[in-house]
Order: sequence, then C-alpha cells, then structure tokens
Amino acid sequence: MKKHRLTIFIFSLMLLQSANIFAQQAGKTEAIYSGLPWYDQNGKVVSAHGANIVQQNGKFYLFGEAHSDTSNAFAGFNCYSSKDLYNWKFESVALPVQKNGKLGPNRVGERVKVMKNPFSGEFIMLMHVDTLGYKDQFVGYATAKNIAGPYQFKGPLLFKGKPIKKWDMGTFQDDDGTGYLLTHGGMIHQLSKDYKSIIAEINPAITTGFESPTLFRKNNTYYFIGSHLTSWEKNDNYYYTSKSLSGPWTARGLLAPKDKLTWNSQATFILKISGTKDTTFMFMGDRWSFPKQLSTANSKSIIRKTILPGDQTISLTGNWKSSTIDSISIIRSDETKASLSFNFSGKQIGLYAVLLPDNGYAKVEIRDKKGKIIINNIIDLYSKSPMLQLAFLSPMLPKSDYKVTVSVLGERPNWSDKRKSLYGSTGNNITIAKLIIQE
Ligand code: GAL
Repeated sequence: MKKHRLTIFIFSLMLLQSANIFAQQAGKTEAIYSGLPWYDQNGKVVSAHGANIVQQNGKFYLFGEAHSDTSNAFAGFNCYSSKDLYNWKFESVALPVQKNGKLGPNRVGERVKVMKNPFSGEFIMLMHVDTLGYKDQFVGYATAKNIAGPYQFKGPLLFKGKPIKKWDMGTFQDDDGTGYLLTHGGMIHQLSKDYKSIIAEINPAITTGFESPTLFRKNNTYYFIGSHLTSWEKNDNYYYTSKSLSGPWTARGLLAPKDKLTWNSQATFILKISGTKDTTFMFMGDRWSFPKQLSTANSKSIIRKTILPGDQTISLTGNWKSSTIDSISIIRSDETKASLSFNFSGKQIGLYAVLLPDNGYAKVEIRDKKGKIIINNIIDLYSKSPMLQLAFLSPMLPKSDYKVTVSVLGERPNWSDKRKSLYGSTGNNITIAKLIIQE
C-alpha cells in the first residue's frame, strides 16, 4: 500500500439532540474533518453509516444508513451531495422505511451501496436486510432512474432463484463496468449485466469473519479489506491482495498500525478519485456507537488558542479528578451532570479528549450571550484502545461571546451482537484533555 495515497474518512453517525442553528455554510468548510459531526445545509448532522459514494455529473453522492438513538431499526437510507467532499447537502431519504415488508417497521437495513449501471444508466442500490435480531438476513436491492431516488425496493437479489443469505456486504465495480457483490468471509459474486441478479460465484470465502468487505483496484492489483467479527466494536481491519478477483488472495496483514483499531473505525468503502496528477483512494470507515451512534475524530485543526484542564478560567461543578495519561494532563469525572464550563470569545471551539475503555457519552452545549443554547450535541468518548482525539468541533459561529459546557451524560455505548456477546464501555467517565478556540 506504500505507494498509494489513502485518505482516511471516518464516518460518524451523529444523532442530533436538536438541530444546530448555525450550519457550516456551503463553501465554508475547507477540509475533511474525520470522525467529527458534519453539518448539512440545514444545520443538521450528516447521518450516513455503512456508506458509499458515487460520482455523477461532477458531484459526489453519499449514501448511508439513517439512525435513531433509541433502536437499531431501519430508519431509511439518506442521500447527500457535495462538490468537494467537505460541504454536504442533504438531498433525500433515498429509500425510506417501507409501509410493511422486509424493510418495513422494526426491521434492519444496513450497509447501503449504490452503483450506476453503465449499461442501462439505472441506479442500483444493494443492502443488507434483516430482522432486528439478525435472524433473516439476505442481500436486497432497489432501483431508481435518478441518483437521489426515489428508489423502489425490489426484494432479494437472486442467484439461481435463491437469495444470498449473508449479512455484511459491499460492492465493487471493475474498470469494464462489471458489478460484484462482496459478502462477509470474502465471498465475491458477479452481478448480471443489469445488476439485478447474480450470475456466478467468482470467489469462495477466504476466511471466517472478514466483515464489512470492501474492495478496490489499483492498476492490476485488487485490495480486499475486512474487519474481525466484533459487532460494532472497532478492531484492526486486515487485507488481502490478488491479481484476480477469483484469487489466489495473499494475506497482507493490518491496514492501519496495530491497536489503532483502523483509526478507530470499521471499513465500509474505498472511493477512487482520479485527479489530474494522481489517483487517490479514500478510505471510508464507520465509528459506531450504540445506542447513541455518536462519534469523535482525529484531525488537524486550524485553531489557535488552547485551554488546558488546569486553567483558572475553567469552572467545574461536581466531582472531577486531575491526572496525566501518557504525559497528557487530563481531568475526568463519571458523576452524572458534573460539568466543565468555559466562556470564550471567538468563532469556533473544539474539545480534545482521551478516549478510554471506561469512558461514556459527554454532552456539549454552547450558549450565546443571552444564555440561549445554540449547539447541543452528544459525543462518544469511548474507545477500546486509549487515544487522544479531537472529539468535538463546533460549526463556524458568528464571532461573539459564548459559553461552552461539557457535562457527564451518565450513559455509555454498550450493546450485544448477533450472538448476544456484550460489547462497549465499562464506565460513564468523560476524560478531557484541552479546549481549542479559533478567535
Ligand atoms: C457489524 C456489522 C454492522 C452491523 C453490526 C451489528 O459486525 O459490520 O454492519 O451489522 O455488526 O452488530
């Protein structure tokens, strides 16, 4: 992979407590902020898990799972568009919850992948369909004439008249336009010319596990990425390469440095961007956080002023402990509603946290001069591997005086998987390293 430029793009599915009043205006965001809440043109957080991106008429179209913070039931697949991959416009709920049937109420719909069929011009959407308890999985499909939909759900994708009864899936389009379905374990099936059925099994399973199958081609080599079987828990994703989709596949080890948990994400798609000088492959991963499906990030920031935990201008309520982790000064609390407040004058505020296995959710509120709450987000400070991260970055605000309050929500991400094994955090702590301000 050394020669390739791999951009990391971590999708966070953020659930909004209330819509932020100040949206990042189109053209105002100048970089991809991995793993932070992104705001669409309406000031709502971009909600798109298990995503993929399709390029069409000079724009990027992003498709992903919409979610709620109360249940994992299918809430529709959202579609956003962007000219630059930074500023996203909400286009539509491309496939809404159906009135009844396999993608009706209280069902699961995941890992939406859209492809434009180069032969018919039609848009084909594939997805994992299931019951809430993951007992009736198959790969389904929907079709549309226009990229943003509306998509018509057609039911299972058939191979020799039978559905593909697999859960994690992905798609790949080769340079000749042939479409492929990828399923967990590393299986590859070739789609028919219209992408509406399967005509052949191209590759048998390579290994057990290998969820979130994601494949791309660079020159004459195919790269096949997958995750370990740990539900929504982030793990060190690994990959194989081959000169042919039917193998043999050579194990290449981990995709990211060991214990970085694939930059604290699970692979979902690789976007190939053909530029004038070079071709870039952008890694897209999910940072899941059940039940709140909120997220954090690591990215460079343009912010200038830094406020450390010991700063006299920070006011604390409740019980907090100061210490250091890897020489980083932190303050930490697990008392529900314990809070840290700070008055600032400027345009933007960010929060660095040390993510830890016993961290839970933090609530971030920004008030204006009149005390009115203008931003209200829940952020997830949990990670199985400890790491320092920019966990919150506000949208650009009009330059003024504000008060930020970060408090312990008293809840944590935790869930069980398809086999009822337990995952997630062991505590409700929030662990804060610093605040950063753009004046
Ligand atoms: C993961 C899978 C996700 C979702 C989750 C539920 O392994 O990649 O798409 O199904 O399990 O536990």
